[in-house]
Amino acid sequence: MRCQLGTTGIEVTAIGLGAMPLSLAGRPDEEQAFQVIKTFLDHGGNFIDTANVYCLDDSDLGHNERLIAKVLKRLGKSAEVIVATKGGLKRPRGDWIVDGRPEFLRQSVEQSLKALDTDCITLYQLHAVDPKVGLEASLDALIDLQGEGKIRYLGLSNVNQSQLERALEKAAVVSVQNRCNVLEQWDFQSGLVAFCQKHQITYIPHSPVGGHHGHKRLKAHPLLNQLASRYRTSPYALALAWLLAKGEYILPIPGASKPSSIEDSLKAMEIRLAPEDIAALDALA
Ligand SMILES: NC(=O)c1ccc[n+]([C@@H]2O[C@H](COP(=O)([O-])OP(=O)(O)OC[C@H]3O[C@@H](n4cnc5c(N)ncnc54)[C@H](OP(=O)(O)O)[C@@H]3O)[C@@H](O)[C@H]2O)c1
Repeated sequence: MRCQLGTTGIEVTAIGLGAMPLSLAGRPDEEQAFQVIKTFLDHGGNFIDTANVYCLDDSDLGHNERLIAKVLKRLGKSAEVIVATKGGLKRPRGDWIVDGRPEFLRQSVEQSLKALDTDCITLYQLHAVDPKVGLEASLDALIDLQGEGKIRYLGLSNVNQSQLERALEKAAVVSVQNRCNVLEQWDFQSGLVAFCQKHQITYIPHSPVGGHHGHKRLKAHPLLNQLASRYRTSPYALALAWLLAKGEYILPIPGASKPSSIEDSLKAMEIRLAPEDIAALDALA
């Protein structure tokens, strides 16, 4: 099962790998992280989501990007895999602080190019809008970097529809990455996902099985468990299958710190949910 990356002509697997759990506190050792990425690639996966701030704190910036670059190099797959990164946040003492200043974004892109060991980042996503700076000013900086050949395609993250519409007046945005899963359906309710589909912008649900902490709530949900046992799958794969059933421009990026987790998540691409089951899951909103 494949998904188009906006109108770029790039086709990726319909499930990507969210690499964040490989670099936050409690992260696995490097060998286990290697196995997670290898398992994803062995099963045909070719889209990995990262960010400069997937790390412990500001002294560890780029940990996730360096890890991915190292694994891809070791496996000889650097040229085949789309690695999407982000900038616009920092991690003082492990906090998550927005910083969309043009000079900071430029510095972040330079650091990501180095960490990813590349001359051009295929998809660079503004991690969040900085209200002190304004969306347009941050975007202008990224458009300049795109003009310099350091970024190929631009994406946004954590935006609403009016912000997306403003961005589209300036730039060809190919993706939007927001929090979205069967228990948190706001972007379906607001019409943002439908807007993305209409404009052929890939919608990337982050935290697609409930998030770094919230995934346990999803795993325990009665309806998800009931349907999962009927489809002979896990509640996680079922929740991902629901996202895939909602439209062709939807690219969920489940996180994993264990190879078994991403192996299970990829099985979502084989599940075809009946319309009445999709409707029952829609009603969890
Ligand atoms: N743009 C943003 O602001 C933003 C914010 C948050 C996340 N993200 C991106 O979205 C990605 C996904 O979000 P997330 O990692 O926070 O949350 P998630 O994908 O909803 O859940 C992640 C956790 O759920 C468990 N899990 C997932 N699929 C599983 C399966 N099939 N079977 C068993 N366990 C499973 C994993 O556990 P194990 O660790 O035990 O394998 C994993 O650590 C991140 O990795 C990151 O790339 C972006």
